[in-house]
Amino acid sequence: MSNPTSSRRAPFIVIEGLDRSGKTTQTSKLAQRLEGSGVDTKLVKFPDRTTPIGKMIDSYLRSASDLDDHAVHLLFSANRWELAPTIERLLTAGTTVICDRYAFSGIAFSASKVDAEGAPLLPFEWCRSPDVGLPAPDLVLFFDITPEKAKERGGYGEERYEKEEMQLRVRKAFHRIAEEMGEDEKVGRGATRWVTVDAGRGMDEVERDVWTLVEPLVRGGVTGPVAKLWTTS
Ligand SMILES: Nc1ncnc2c1ncn2[C@@H]1O[C@H](COP(=O)(O)OP(=O)(O)OP(=O)(O)O)[C@@H](O)[C@H]1O
Ligand SMILES: [Mg+2]
Repeated sequence: MSNPTSSRRAPFIVIEGLDRSGKTTQTSKLAQRLEGSGVDTKLVKFPDRTTPIGKMIDSYLRSASDLDDHAVHLLFSANRWELAPTIERLLTAGTTVICDRYAFSGIAFSASKVDAEGAPLLPFEWCRSPDVGLPAPDLVLFFDITPEKAKERGGYGEERYEKEEMQLRVRKAFHRIAEEMGEDEKVGRGATRWVTVDAGRGMDEVERDVWTLVEPLVRGGVTGPVAKLWTTS
């Protein structure tokens, strides 16, 4: 018996953006609100510092260990691949996955690392390649904020990437990714919808925008299998 709804699955929603843009605040508000509305929801956060790979990343970010930049980049990607089968299984089983940072952060941060002369240490395309084929989000909400505004939110912490010049380069890298993803429209590379959210506003305003974008997707579900990031198949 054919069932027109049988191929529907839950959506994969990613919140991305600069440090202090409010990703953790809004992903947790969103997950709570969805759960409160009876939607089966899983909140995922990258890096996942609890896995063996995640522990190496944590030690590196806290500057407790030094690692080659290429190796670090691959660890961040491997940390996402560790969870890829789980994400796919959850979506197919009907659980909405909300994710705090994903591959886009991985690329934006690594591609923003420079040497003493200001030359990039890792080419942009090299940074993207290990993440090709990861589960593609159905919706990415890119939280855009100026580094000045982000700094007002208690200032940056003590971790490696939390320096203002670095944040400026990261923002530029995110804007490049946004352009390539095709702002607010479906593109061939995995049918991810990318929407930029002005994250410099008050928490409630941002929350309202997030809900307006997410709610219809969760209510309607998604047809077809989970796409693969940056592949056409
Ligand atoms: N819209 C907002 N307006 C003002 N302050 C905010 C807003 N959203 C979050 N904050 C505050 O800014 C700080 C950073 O927020 P949050 O931890 O959610 O950001 P983040 O993007 O997850 O940061 P990180 O990249 O460091 O993990 C917190 O103290 C939070 O309470
Ligand atoms: Mg956070």
